[in-house]
Amino acid sequence: MKLGKLTDYRVNGQEVILDFEGREARIWVVTPYIINVFCGEDGNRPCSKAIEGDKMILVSPKVCQKEDGLWIHTGKVSVRVSDGFYVDFYDENGVEVCGDYRGERRPLQRVSKEVLKLLEEEGHAAQDHRQEHAFEVVKKMDASAHFYGLGDKTGFLDKRSYEYEMWNTDNPDPQVDSFKALYKSIPFFIALGKEYVYGIFLDNTFKGYFNMGQESESYYWFGADGGCLNYYYIAGESMAEVLKGYTYLTGTCPLPQKWTLGYHQSRWGYVTQEDVEEIASSMRKNDIPCDVIHFDIDYMQDYKVFTWNEERYHNDPKAFLDRLSKDGFKVVVINDPGVKVEEGYEVYEEGLHGGYFARTPEGEVYSNVVWPGEAVFPDFGNPEVREWWGQHQSFLLEKGVRGIWNDMNEPASFRGPLPDDVVFTDEGRKAEHREMHNVYGHLMAKAAYDGLKDLDGRRPFVITRACYAGSQKYATAWTGDNTSMWAHLQMVIPQLCNLGLSGMPFVGTDVGGFGADTTPELMARWVQVGCFSPLFRNHSAAGTRRQEPWEFGEEVMGIYRKYVKLRYRLIPYMYDLFFEEEQTGMPVMRPLVLEYEKEDAARVCNDEFMLGSRILVAPVVHPGMTKRMVYLPEGVWYDYWTQEQLEGPVWFIREAPLDCCPVYVRAGSVLPVMEPQSYVGEKPGDILYLEAYPGEGSWEHYLDNGEDFAYRDGKYHQYHFEVKEDGMVNGEIVHAGYDKPYKKVLVQRAGEKEWKEINHDR
Ligand code: GLC
Repeated sequence: MKLGKLTDYRVNGQEVILDFEGREARIWVVTPYIINVFCGEDGNRPCSKAIEGDKMILVSPKVCQKEDGLWIHTGKVSVRVSDGFYVDFYDENGVEVCGDYRGERRPLQRVSKEVLKLLEEEGHAAQDHRQEHAFEVVKKMDASAHFYGLGDKTGFLDKRSYEYEMWNTDNPDPQVDSFKALYKSIPFFIALGKEYVYGIFLDNTFKGYFNMGQESESYYWFGADGGCLNYYYIAGESMAEVLKGYTYLTGTCPLPQKWTLGYHQSRWGYVTQEDVEEIASSMRKNDIPCDVIHFDIDYMQDYKVFTWNEERYHNDPKAFLDRLSKDGFKVVVINDPGVKVEEGYEVYEEGLHGGYFARTPEGEVYSNVVWPGEAVFPDFGNPEVREWWGQHQSFLLEKGVRGIWNDMNEPASFRGPLPDDVVFTDEGRKAEHREMHNVYGHLMAKAAYDGLKDLDGRRPFVITRACYAGSQKYATAWTGDNTSMWAHLQMVIPQLCNLGLSGMPFVGTDVGGFGADTTPELMARWVQVGCFSPLFRNHSAAGTRRQEPWEFGEEVMGIYRKYVKLRYRLIPYMYDLFFEEEQTGMPVMRPLVLEYEKEDAARVCNDEFMLGSRILVAPVVHPGMTKRMVYLPEGVWYDYWTQEQLEGPVWFIREAPLDCCPVYVRAGSVLPVMEPQSYVGEKPGDILYLEAYPGEGSWEHYLDNGEDFAYRDGKYHQYHFEVKEDGMVNGEIVHAGYDKPYKKVLVQRAGEKEWKEINHDR
């Protein structure tokens, strides 16, 4: 964004008001590490959807005018603002880390009008003119830069050389690398270079553009179609610190109920009670642990939200859900935003009379087509609508439902997209669809979360398809309609890792693939990745090949069982990761680069990932492959299956027959594990089992009731374990607030069979 000469400035506490020949811009020092750069029409900030509450930490910035610009020093970051509204960031040693680009933009290829027309008819983007955006920020890019984050975009881990758009999109075609947008808009990325790391968060909900060096090797740029230039520069010593800064602003994901970490079975196609009964009994009969069954749109009456097709459930869904619950199954139901237009239908009538639906500029209620046919769209930007919607969930809770799955909330529509000028509300003011689109799902998730919290008191379990920055505060997310193809299994790793780097730690994909028919081999390999992903749900589309675990013969079912059981074994470890995540923003599933950012191989690794800091997974994601190349970063590692010790950094080939997903554990780890069970809580859980991997290290283990918010009042236990080179483990209780702590702690040393009791008193 080019403004004129910097003619004057004023310092108002942590705010520096900049006068560029009559046009005002502002810089806020939010914390010593976080700087907000802002330029809006009238200086007024719209209310952020991502950031809740005041994030300012008291800092006394030093501001001084020099020949080369106005300098703002926080002690950790220095900002230089110069004529033309160029903003450069320096680290505490005075080294430029993130500077505005001042050179010429690359001229774009010119083609004749005729060729352009042909290109456009073929569906190619116009190449000969640069689209005008409300603003663009162009930053220098050096040869060492890698970019991570940006939400759920397709392609690989490093986003360098690609361009993306922020516009929540439900595109039913199989997702490929050239897709610019998917369901989520998280305008945050981390830039990692040879000697630097920083993050940029563009808090703007209009259609956004992120060109990460696709246009040039010298710069990258980001911009939006409307709203204010409003970005945060986030400094830190490491990617983890930058992410901490980002989640400090936008929030972390609250600790989930423990059962949500179990296995979820879903399919668009469980229509009747009998269908569900059969799934539940087959899970138990085939000894596949399972906690959750999802009900897709068929449980509703004519796809009307907050209704139940009771006939399909012997006129008593509650009795059925009660029975499922006795057998350890929790039910999650889908809920779409589109409300069916039907006279006499309570939800529609209430919304109509309350003025709760989005409108055309002429003031008519706007309708489009979704699953129920003609439907209208709740105006979730209005707090009253969120409250109304949230409370309606009592209808589902009363039947015994334990979680809500928000779908189609981009919002998706079948009769063309919603026009840009459909009128919504942004808290107290009117705002058009062009501004509210990217936060529609986010606000729906907030409505669902707040409603459930109020009605139920337990930690709400909400799954959402559409997200904006900060949605992690309300919901877990899945990556929408993927396809049963190997390319999509490959994509799971970078996609979920980048979501984690975008502040969304509780994420998963449809295991086995949603669209198209999966194969036994693909299923076996997918479950080997799925069992390590934070949200572990098998889901598939109506009309595709069935993909429950028993659909592929004994061998694949055996593999399936082995990995679901491994998942259950690791639930205490994963729960610890969620506890850590809530404190620090560190994701549960991590790309190698987050733990080993100095290692070149880690920076571009797309086919391995980490579960927390201790477990490295190197799955097979190609058909026919029975060995794979594995990279282990620096340090000593144990092969999880053979207990063989390996020293990294090292590349080697690991045998990986169909039943083997290579897994490694870092030396010096103490992994809390759970005894085998069919669902979380089936066994009393009063013994803690620890797997110890010799080496120096420690682990914080966390225990609470796994269900409500009592932990926030200190009702939890925290154990600190230390492991030594000889594999001996010492433990102590560092916080004692839970009324059912472990009675015993048993340790098994890597390579040994025996479990030995250890003392773990304070
Ligand atoms: C959407 C969802 C999918 C669901 C289907 C039917 O495509 O993404 O998960 O099964 O709608 O509700």
